[in-house]
Amino acid sequence: MTAEPMRKPDSGAGIIVAIDGPAGAGKSTIARELARHFGLLNLETGAMYRAFALRALRKGLPLDRAGALETLAAETSIRLEPGDEENRVLLDGEDVTGLIRNPMVTDAASRVSVFPAIRAWMVSLQQQLGAQGGVVMEGRDIGTVVFPHANVKIFLDAAPEVRGQRRYQQLGRNGAMPPPADEIVRDLRARDDRDRNRADSPLKPAADAVLLDSTNLSLDEVVAAAVQIVARRLAAADSTSAPVTPK
Ligand code: DC
Repeated sequence: MTAEPMRKPDSGAGIIVAIDGPAGAGKSTIARELARHFGLLNLETGAMYRAFALRALRKGLPLDRAGALETLAAETSIRLEPGDEENRVLLDGEDVTGLIRNPMVTDAASRVSVFPAIRAWMVSLQQQLGAQGGVVMEGRDIGTVVFPHANVKIFLDAAPEVRGQRRYQQLGRNGAMPPPADEIVRDLRARDDRDRNRADSPLKPAADAVLLDSTNLSLDEVVAAAVQIVARRLAAADSTSAPVTPK
């Protein structure tokens, strides 16, 4: 008996799926569902920028000092480990997974991510993580910079008000008291502005990305649409690469 695992017909073994889009568009949820469906590892690159931002905040570094941030980066280790629900993030060996989702770190992550040296470091780590394929990687520049040759690229978007409302509901889960919805929308817009307008690898759809606008879709509908996009690409790739066996 061979111990080889059964390959699901729609398995994505070896492939790279890139999911990019603005904050609150639902990338993490879609990436997680795609990973489950196609048997891929789910890698959230935003968590890496967040971990570094946490380090800078703890050090009390001004977040606009490129040189100081670069020096800090040289002595910082960040590891991302795929998990079923969310990624585990290790900052210099410390598990900081539960410490990087608050508003202060969120804002700081967007600020430190504008610097080319920080981006180059992160991109190289991310390329190593995905080198074997079999991953769905989400972020802002996956289809444009990290894996420009990804097999499937999805750019997930939604109107800012809708993204803000979803974030509001998410933050209010478990009985927590979220900030007012209009404040959340304002912060999202500010972060969008910075992410879209930075000079180095700004957030934008890759030329060959499939645009998926979730403004008027339920979560189930977005997941179904994303699964269909990936399945179609895999089927198309299979049919073009299938060896022709002479009878
Ligand atoms: O996806 P997220 O909200 O966790 O990302 C936090 C910040 O990190 C985001 O505002 C911009 C930055 N980021 C980036 O510049 N490039 C990525 N690939 C992922 C995140």
